[in-house]
Amino acid sequence: MKSYQKGIGYRYLLKTKYYPDRPFIDDLGRIESPPLYKVYPEAPRIALPKQFDFTLPEFTSIIASRRSHRHFKPASLLCQNWPSCSGRAKVLPRLKVTALPPRLGPLYPVETYLSVHRVQDVPAGIYHFNVRDFCLERLVKGDFAPVLGAMALGQSVIKRAAVVFIWTAVILRSMAKYRNRAIRYIFLDAGHICQNLLLAVTALNLGACPVGAFLTKK
Ligand SMILES: Cc1cc2nc3c(=O)[nH]c(=O)nc-3n(C[C@H](O)[C@H](O)[C@H](O)COP(=O)(O)O)c2cc1C
Repeated sequence: MKSYQKGIGYRYLLKTKYYPDRPFIDDLGRIESPPLYKVYPEAPRIALPKQFDFTLPEFTSIIASRRSHRHFKPASLLCQNWPSCSGRAKVLPRLKVTALPPRLGPLYPVETYLSVHRVQDVPAGIYHFNVRDFCLERLVKGDFAPVLGAMALGQSVIKRAAVVFIWTAVILRSMAKYRNRAIRYIFLDAGHICQNLLLAVTALNLGACPVGAFLTKK
């Protein structure tokens, strides 16, 4: 056995393969599914506009022009762009709109949080995107750009961004159905969501960069 085959990543993939001639059996027992919607009932809310009236470019030109941007102009950070959040939000999980990304299950394991740094009319802070009630829930006030920047291994793109989207997963939502294999799907789910956000950003002539390198808080 090669040493990389002993590693957790390789073994995970091996152990969670489907085979046509073998039942997928595990010893995890019954897994209770958590609620489909995460809500922070105590948090102050900011309603999101449900309509947006931007004229969007052709889809093919959006695909062709998407690039990672790590420097941003202040113009792209202002209020006129904030309503575009609904445009972006339309491509986030669980919304019954045409731009809905393919969903896993549909169990919607991915939760969206925003670290708002410089957005007019939205105080700096960490927000949860409440999909059920289509609003932002403010979890904590303050500018977390330096903290997030440090957590992203010091990448300055984070500190320069007006807003950072953070995706987490309620793993058991997917594990209840897909067992250990759920982890594979959750990463695929997050990738679809991120790509939709990037395309929405491109369509609105804004800039964004995906960041996968970050530390976990102890
Ligand atoms: C999963 C993933 C993680 C990424 N992580 C980072 C990152 O941590 N920092 C960064 O500057 N770019 C990151 N990128 C952006 C890539 O560097 C970028 O997409 C790639 O260089 C191609 O350039 P383009 O997006 O302009 O086509 C990431 C991209 C993906 C898909």
